[in-house]
Amino acid sequence: MPKYIIKGGKRLEGTVRISGSKNASLPIIAASVLNGGKTTLYNVPNIHDTQMMFEILRELGCKVEKKNKKIIIDSSKINKFGIPEDLMHQMRSSVILAGSLLGKYKKAMFSYPGGCDIGARPIDLHLKGFEQLGINIEKQYGQIKCTAEKIVGKQINLDFPSVGATENLILASVLAEGTTVIINAAREPEIVDLQNFLIKMGAKIKGAGSNQIEIVGVQQLKDVSYNIMPDRIEAGTFLCLAAIVGGNITLDEVNPNDITPVIAKLEEAGCKLEVRKNKIHISSNKKLKPLEIKTMPYPGFPTDMQSIFVAILTIAKGTSIMIETIFENRYKYTQELIKMGAKITVEGRSAIIKGTRKLYGASVNATDLRGGAALVIAGLSAKGKTVIENIDYILRGYEDFDKKLRSIGADISLIDS
Ligand code: UD1
Repeated sequence: MPKYIIKGGKRLEGTVRISGSKNASLPIIAASVLNGGKTTLYNVPNIHDTQMMFEILRELGCKVEKKNKKIIIDSSKINKFGIPEDLMHQMRSSVILAGSLLGKYKKAMFSYPGGCDIGARPIDLHLKGFEQLGINIEKQYGQIKCTAEKIVGKQINLDFPSVGATENLILASVLAEGTTVIINAAREPEIVDLQNFLIKMGAKIKGAGSNQIEIVGVQQLKDVSYNIMPDRIEAGTFLCLAAIVGGNITLDEVNPNDITPVIAKLEEAGCKLEVRKNKIHISSNKKLKPLEIKTMPYPGFPTDMQSIFVAILTIAKGTSIMIETIFENRYKYTQELIKMGAKITVEGRSAIIKGTRKLYGASVNATDLRGGAALVIAGLSAKGKTVIENIDYILRGYEDFDKKLRSIGADISLIDS
């Protein structure tokens, strides 16, 4: 099992190029089913989750080729409509293929999805939306079979602005008859990226980025090539790293508009940030002020940055409060930070973080993707050696993480034993 070995305390200096977004790539890769032709994608991060998505597409009958930095998907020969159970369990986002398969072929079979253990993560909103589009759903022995004679556009009111449900309903609607309107849609930038991709493919869709999305069904879609947006969570992770470890880091190929709440909170903590069109420079002297943060759907503070901010607040001067409103079980990693000397009390959806002067290296386990990244950040600021086990979670979502960290002066190695 691979692990990271970190020797903390090195000041960081240099430029990091931000990779393409994981959470934008996954629905866009799924959307390649819809044109029954060729999709060329640039800037897809080479991470476990995108590789899994390609594996599922191959299982369905697609050809997926990597040529230099581009990925070419040919979906003209899809001959299966069931997502293999083992792959579905490995990655929650595979559920997004249901929308594409339904949109194109009016049938999809899948089981309940897996993914990071950060809460119950039901898919009731996805299924309720499908039913409203006239899709028939049969559940048996943990399997879900969706079929439709035809998909007819409708107004769908989401009880909660779920990112995955919004994406699935868009994908199921682009080839439908008539107009679909999603009310209380999620507003995340990745949904805007999906919309831009689909428009290039020939879809008629507008409103992404607001809470109302309108999709007018078209009969056919065309071949497309598309450049995936930068990963805003990776960008936030590197900014927080500079905040806690100290130093000067420049992020390149980033979209600062996508992370305004993260930038605002780092400035409130006392870091100096310079924001340009697609670059952000951060400098920090490690003297951080405490913060109060509440995670919210976009444009609020992202839940995916919650653990990473808790990590940096462990050394702030004073007491910080984090309130997690999106996922009910997203504090498992705090037990690992406590092994490193952090003072954190979790009470339901709140965490109280009492700043301490220093963290100390320890043997810890990644409990999920972003919780794992929080441990890397903590380890790089800690005194002594930190060993992080179970890093498969981290490799799911960060491209070349250790390589990028070494390029700015961090002492981290990935051991595969
Ligand atoms: C996506 C992101 C994830 C991010 C999350 C919230 C991807 C691949 N993942 O996950 O990184 O943390 O958005 O910004 O893009 N819910 C239901 N029923 C449903 C669907 C969701 O109750 O049918 C609940 C979830 O349990 C959770 C909340 O809604 O409490 C938000 O989930 P959702 O927005 O759907 O997140 P994901 O799409 O899974």
